[in-house]
Amino acid sequence: MVISDGVKFDIRDLNIWFGPAHVLRQVSMSIRPNEILSVIGPSNSGKTTFLRTLNRLNDTERYFKRSGEIIFEDKEIRKFDPEVLRQKVGMVFALPLSLPLSIFENVAYGMRMHGKKNKKDLSNRVEKALLEAYLWEEVKDRLSESAFKLSGGQQQRLCIARTLAVEPDVILFDEPCSGLDPISTAKVEDAMVKLKKDYTIVLVTNNVKQAARVGDRTAFFLSGELIELNNTDKIFTVPKDKRTDDYIRGKFG
Ligand SMILES: Nc1ncnc2c1ncn2[C@@H]1O[C@H](COP(=O)(O)OP(=O)(O)O)[C@@H](O)[C@H]1O
Ligand SMILES: [Mg+2]
Repeated sequence: MVISDGVKFDIRDLNIWFGPAHVLRQVSMSIRPNEILSVIGPSNSGKTTFLRTLNRLNDTERYFKRSGEIIFEDKEIRKFDPEVLRQKVGMVFALPLSLPLSIFENVAYGMRMHGKKNKKDLSNRVEKALLEAYLWEEVKDRLSESAFKLSGGQQQRLCIARTLAVEPDVILFDEPCSGLDPISTAKVEDAMVKLKKDYTIVLVTNNVKQAARVGDRTAFFLSGELIELNNTDKIFTVPKDKRTDDYIRGKFG
């Protein structure tokens, strides 16, 4: 299904504007299957915009405009039905968006949105998704309890399970640990590292240490430009650009 082996997304000369604001500039890169690609950079550098563009969440924003190509598998994302694209390219947001429903229904929610109704199918998939999100053991005896009874870290893994339940290929994470304590953060990071066996992961993080811990490759964005993209160990030991070096050393941002 892919044009060139080893490419999940192929992005060429991507530019994004919101009205007059030129938010991403000439970004070209590819995203490889089964990698964790970390995306780092100071606030307002365009990281979230980049992520939301990949599954067309920005399309409904007023004044959104883009040029360049984004090829997912072998098709420009504009040619996908947005719902189909979002099933294949799922997203997990910074704050866990638990719904006022049971633990079970929080995970089943996306599947129901996609028209799945069969009880047995739903419960099999809910279990599988909770297992994959490393939450099953903690919730298996209380699936009918409100999701709000879970801790922040558990709720974030619940959101990951909801995303996994619709069987995506790619998962986009936007600062998934920003509100979590170190122990919960470690659990979410463990889950991500295990998930890359079956999924492709793009991880936007404001925590450079997290990028270093879990990213196979790391991309550094600054003011809408992709400054540097390389294997994570290279970025953190021998960055090519002085601005990358300054950022990872905490000199700005
Ligand atoms: N929907 C939008 N409408 C107008 N401007 C936006 C919108 N989303 C993001 N921006 C602008 O795009 C720039 C990049 O933002 P963002 O992608 O959120 O950066 P980051 O995630 O790196 O902090 C900011 O200047 C922000 O104000
Ligand atoms: Mg952001």
